[in-house]
Amino acid sequence: MRVLVTGGCGFIGSHFVRRLLERGDDVRVLDKLTYSGRRENLEDVDCELVVGDIADAEAVSRAASGCEAIVNFAAETHVDRSILGATDFGRTEFFGTQVLLEEVRRTGARYVQVSTDEVYGDLAGRGSAKETDPVEPSSPYSVAKAAGDLHVPAYVRTFGVDASITRGSNTYGPRQYPEKLVPLFVTNALDGEPLPVYGDGRQIRDWLHVEDHCTGIEFVLREGVAGEVYNVGGGNERENVEITRRIVELTGADPALVRHVTDRPGHDRRYSLDSSKLRALGWEPRRAFDDGLAETVAWYRDNRSWWEPIKSGEYLEYYRRQYAERLA
Ligand code: TYD
Repeated sequence: MRVLVTGGCGFIGSHFVRRLLERGDDVRVLDKLTYSGRRENLEDVDCELVVGDIADAEAVSRAASGCEAIVNFAAETHVDRSILGATDFGRTEFFGTQVLLEEVRRTGARYVQVSTDEVYGDLAGRGSAKETDPVEPSSPYSVAKAAGDLHVPAYVRTFGVDASITRGSNTYGPRQYPEKLVPLFVTNALDGEPLPVYGDGRQIRDWLHVEDHCTGIEFVLREGVAGEVYNVGGGNERENVEITRRIVELTGADPALVRHVTDRPGHDRRYSLDSSKLRALGWEPRRAFDDGLAETVAWYRDNRSWWEPIKSGEYLEYYRRQYAERLA
């Protein structure tokens, strides 16, 4: 199959591109190369890169030409950045998704919208989210994702396009931009910098290795039904303090680097996914969390040349805005 992967230079997107290439698919990437979309994430693989924005219909048409499927990873993804300012989130997530669906409407390509468990909102004291649950997003980021997702069933119903949604849980692994919990804490620990735990750190996320997330999306690409949503959860709920403790152990860092700081406003206490629908198709996560986290720490230890250049310029400006006061 010839597949257009939008956001293919990002964290999960670049792993997905590699997976499709290994499976023999022909892959083209459309990526805006924002701060977290990194050309070097794909420098060793054989696929064509079109530099452009999913909200630009002309760039989308050019990139999608001849493709039988589009898988959309392109998004502004970081909750803390969305709290500092969310304009780009609405443009990319809402408007960009609509532009992609217009293209799909015109060409008949299959479409997969890669979304997140965060659209279900805070599940503290409740069970696990099912695909039929309502969306109740609580951050500007998750609102933008939920809004983008809403186009999908509407385009299926109105125009008969062949489109599905995946909703993945917190993903970790190599090449994740060091603003998210795991890569931020791992790289800070390796550098002897503080690990800023928000609030009491008892918030729960359901952790999923990036390769397991990608096999889930691939299942949906090949076997998913139009108009359907598929949860892709790790089934592996952990408190942030536990993740932090493991990272301190694995890096050999000084436990005194762990600092409890002012909480994220509106911070969701718990995410949890019921993935039985996708499991019924034959998918299951294979990577045990302890092994996956240890391998991820080893990757960051061995690949300083990937993340050290990132921790300069724009990153330092963001880091100062997000953490300077918290760590003062
Ligand atoms: P994050 O990686 O930003 O993912 P998300 O908010 O999309 O789940 O955060 C994961 C959890 O870690 C979340 O509960 C917030 C917490 N966290 C911290 O405690 N400190 C930090 O510096 C960051 C980035 C996250």
